[in-house]
Amino acid sequence: MCGIVGYVGDGDATRVLLSGLNQLEYRGYDSAGIAVSDGGGEICGDGGVDANGGVSSDGAGIDVRKRAGELENLEAAIESGAPTGSVGIGHTRWSTHGPPTDRNAHPHTGETGAVAVVHNGIIENYRALKEALVDAGRTFESDTDTEVVPHLIEQALADGADPETAFRRAVSQLEGSYAIVAVFEGVDALFAARNDSPLVLGVGDDGYHVASDVPAFLEFTERVVYLEDGETVVVRGDGATVRDGDGDVVEKAVTTVDWDVEDTGKSGYDHYMLKEIHEQPTALRQCLSGRVNELDGTVELPEVDGVPAPSTVHLVACGTSYHAALVGAARFREAGTPAQAFLASEYAVRTPPVGDALVIGVTQSGETADTLAALRAARSRGARTLAVTNVVGSSAARECDDAVYIRAGPEIGVAATKTFTSQVVSLSLLVERLAGSATGSEASRERLAALRDLPGLVQQVLDESAAAAVAEAYVGRDGYFFIGRGPNHPVALEGALKFKEITYEHAEGFAAGELKHGTLALVTERTPVIAVVTGDDAAARKTVSNVKEVEARGAPVIAVTDGRAGVAEYADHTLALPDAHPSVLPLLANTQLQLVAYHVANRLGRSIDKPRNLAKSVTVE
Ligand code: AGP
Ligand code: GLU
Repeated sequence: MCGIVGYVGDGDATRVLLSGLNQLEYRGYDSAGIAVSDGGGEICGDGGVDANGGVSSDGAGIDVRKRAGELENLEAAIESGAPTGSVGIGHTRWSTHGPPTDRNAHPHTGETGAVAVVHNGIIENYRALKEALVDAGRTFESDTDTEVVPHLIEQALADGADPETAFRRAVSQLEGSYAIVAVFEGVDALFAARNDSPLVLGVGDDGYHVASDVPAFLEFTERVVYLEDGETVVVRGDGATVRDGDGDVVEKAVTTVDWDVEDTGKSGYDHYMLKEIHEQPTALRQCLSGRVNELDGTVELPEVDGVPAPSTVHLVACGTSYHAALVGAARFREAGTPAQAFLASEYAVRTPPVGDALVIGVTQSGETADTLAALRAARSRGARTLAVTNVVGSSAARECDDAVYIRAGPEIGVAATKTFTSQVVSLSLLVERLAGSATGSEASRERLAALRDLPGLVQQVLDESAAAAVAEAYVGRDGYFFIGRGPNHPVALEGALKFKEITYEHAEGFAAGELKHGTLALVTERTPVIAVVTGDDAAARKTVSNVKEVEARGAPVIAVTDGRAGVAEYADHTLALPDAHPSVLPLLANTQLQLVAYHVANRLGRSIDKPRNLAKSVTVE
């Protein structure tokens, strides 16, 4: 989920790389680095710590500079002496393996300094590769999964391979999601590969570029070559050779993009929120990567290896994260572990007896004051605490006994979208891992298979959704009610929160059975009711009855449904869900509701990415 850049040509590589990293900083900002080669010279050094605490390797061949923190830290560090050369790579990191420190920042080198590598994504099999490399006598400097790559390349070079063969041999051993770019000492070329992570080539007048996203080089060229999964490429200053997985050369078309530079950080989407809604399949793949063993129906989460199966679970969270916590609590209960979700602000002032409960803080930012206060209250009463968060090294991650990362990638829009989905999936994995009765059963295998299919199903919803048309039909009504029962209750709450947050229209979410206990008085032909109905069990059938009740009072009904309960018959509009395992249908419904909220807000011209009065991270109680 980070930003990658690479350049080879006649220009000043450092300037080109820093310009690209500035454009990509929204993709990751916990550390940054560059490696620049002058295309010749001796191998020198393995990267020592410099006087400023950062890491630099000032060999005659590849000059590596990297710093924890925002890009400006790197820029300040090289102000007095920037690396010079005409070939180089750069990276803004968004950590998944190892905290954001100078050492863990990219680029990574092996032992000889003959190669430097940047990587976006996760190498799933890095532990096995690292063990083999350590057994072969290699020493590692960082906690990252990435560092296996330069070591594998060096190993192949030591066996006599040329740079391209060494690069391809290393890449062929990797499992997981990656975009990788390498630079070799004394070689005027870049070597790149992609699998499940974006990577594009830019064809400039005075050189070639590679990047994880077009905006990185838009200042220099609008001519782009899109790479496909499984392809590798050797990029020279005057051309590039792309090969498929078998090593055969692939002819690629050059496309000219016509992008407004203002919108570049949004990859062509009008808003970050819409971009992040569409990133959900990728975010989910990253979240699941290397964690699910479908064959024996188990989950690997080394982060909680030291956590015993809890007798009771408390989940504390706010806003959207609270809705994810509600789903998580229900999943724990279904697996036989008593669990309850609490609003963190209430938990902090009225802390219930914690006994030997495991207290889980669900917080994408890891910095929400209410959630931190709740976790501290739990700790002060002797509870073991666990953070489920998106941000490596955040306060929640540091203060809790253990942390599980949801790996959704940076979320810029204030409205939480992809982080909700990834939180729910991470909590589901946690239940499979921690709740003894969940592990290894046939039901567990089915749930894990459903999670494997989820990214593709979310993609299907995104591709086929009629949310834009539904939004158009219902803009400007008096109020909006979202209803759902059982697993769809948190979805109704989340649908309403998202809707009011960005449209500024009145919306409320309810347990479907609760509407008739008061709020039905507000239901008229000017208050659309959005009903989430999945499956055809008793809960679905009862929700259909609730839909009939509002229909009888003249309210327009929008059904979000897989069609099995027959609710469409009573609905004015339907947002269809694909056929899927019951455990993932609520998340698919939520995707539809995210899109409805987005399109209504867009139609009303709201400030979607920065809604009034709100902040991405709420650091006051
Ligand atoms: C949701 O769209 C909001 N941004 C908000 O409810 C958010 O989920 C809440 O403030 C909690 O934030 P956290 O996950 O960073 O703790
Ligand atoms: N997994 C790598 C790391 O933690 C790359 C993360 C990224 O995509 O920035 O360093």
